Amino acid sequence: MLETLNLAIERYNAGDFLEALRFASAVPEAVRAEPAVTAMLATVGAGAIAAALAAEAHGETMDAVLEQATAIVSRQVAVVTWSQVTAERLNRADHVVALHAACFALDADPSDLTARALFAECAARVDAPDVAASVAHTLLARTTNAPMAERLRALMIDARDSRLDTDQASPEAIAWHNEGDAWRGAAPARAIFSKVMAASGALPVWQGVFDIGLMMAARGQADLALALFDRVAATIRRSGIAEHAHDQLLTKLGRFGEKYERRMRVMSQKVMALVPPADPAAVADWSLDATRPDALAGSLAALRTHGFVLVVGAIDSAAIAEVAAAVFAETPERRFVDPNRDIPAPARERLLAPLLRQVLDALQLVGPDAATSHGRQVFPGPEADQDSLTIAYHQDSLAFYQPLLNVWIPLDPCGDDAPGLALLSDRTRHILPGRRDAQKPSDSEAVDFEVVADLIRENGEIVPKMQPGDALLFLGTVPHRTFLSAAMTKPRRSLELRFVPADWLMTPMSAA
Ligand SMILES: [Fe+2]
Repeated sequence: MLETLNLAIERYNAGDFLEALRFASAVPEAVRAEPAVTAMLATVGAGAIAAALAAEAHGETMDAVLEQATAIVSRQVAVVTWSQVTAERLNRADHVVALHAACFALDADPSDLTARALFAECAARVDAPDVAASVAHTLLARTTNAPMAERLRALMIDARDSRLDTDQASPEAIAWHNEGDAWRGAAPARAIFSKVMAASGALPVWQGVFDIGLMMAARGQADLALALFDRVAATIRRSGIAEHAHDQLLTKLGRFGEKYERRMRVMSQKVMALVPPADPAAVADWSLDATRPDALAGSLAALRTHGFVLVVGAIDSAAIAEVAAAVFAETPERRFVDPNRDIPAPARERLLAPLLRQVLDALQLVGPDAATSHGRQVFPGPEADQDSLTIAYHQDSLAFYQPLLNVWIPLDPCGDDAPGLALLSDRTRHILPGRRDAQKPSDSEAVDFEVVADLIRENGEIVPKMQPGDALLFLGTVPHRTFLSAAMTKPRRSLELRFVPADWLMTPMSAA
């Protein structure tokens, strides 16, 4: 070990930094933490970085040298060395190399405020204002230095000035985006650099910003990741993927209040955009026959007015019988069904009768989403009575965080002697205040009892009686629950297929 280290120092003193780096890299990991060894490696590493940059070399050889040199120094040394290089290059207006150096500093320690500030500055200089704005956002509250705060504020361009929401990314931006993917595992600093470049210019790739967020989340930099996801969500029209990433990170951090507040706000907006509510005075039947010549227009009018529509006789009863037989043949008592696994694709297709397809196409929805679609069998009795999330009023868009249309398909007659569904008319697309119970956090998805009581007094509670072949379509903002009465004795089987705008699809169904 000592011999390798001595050879490294010898080459370093002779001015042959690259050869010194080769020997230093061979020093075993186990002894690198010894203070004397750490110090010598730091000297060799910093020397090699300076030499590689001074040689103005380009391409993969230089990258390999820089990665290797960075790897042998401690994180603190790496972040200081690279921050110095970044500042020097910024002074020389060498913006691309400065950004490259800033990415090394950020990769070495993404929580280092100097490294972050330099990274934001470099992103702005290479014309990636959305990256710069997101990073600056995480720094402003933590900065006491007045000129620095002023500069950060200047970097925080408004979302309206974002360039991310473009349908036509430039070929250069796409090439950088792909290069970033290729570097992700092997050379993270290089990957960050490529993603910033992908997010730069007049026609950037918005996924560049999103992917830097994913990389920061993986490094435990939640604040930076949230700021980057937030930027994407605020600036692109198809924001589902970014909203989901943001939501998942808040869940992981245990910031549930914030998570529900955001879900409520975003879901109300998105379902509103999907099916704007009709005029409060509008009247429409919530139930109609599928054979009516104006069935499509009637269905859309009912969705606008009530948020739901019962299409009587929508699906061929043979298709329903086929699905019910296939799914429940082996285990007639099963409670749960996974449509993706349990229903073959052709049988699933047959369920989506032409009128249902027309409604889905009119709303530009895709699916069903394998992640949120399922089937149930409810048996009347004490077990069902205690299933609070089934029997309490809730809104699917809050529960699943998707601006969805639920296509609810009964496989048995229901609403009379078998459990049905109760719904409240949704005339606002609002997400209603939840029931707050510290003992039972899952209840936060249930609508507050008093709010429900008020709505029932105002518009009544609707409990449709349904037959196999009927389909109940309802928006994710429609409050609903399983309806159980003491008179009910028979079980009820049903499918819930959830359809969403393309950017909110979590898992496509299998094709087989
Ligand atoms: Fe539901």
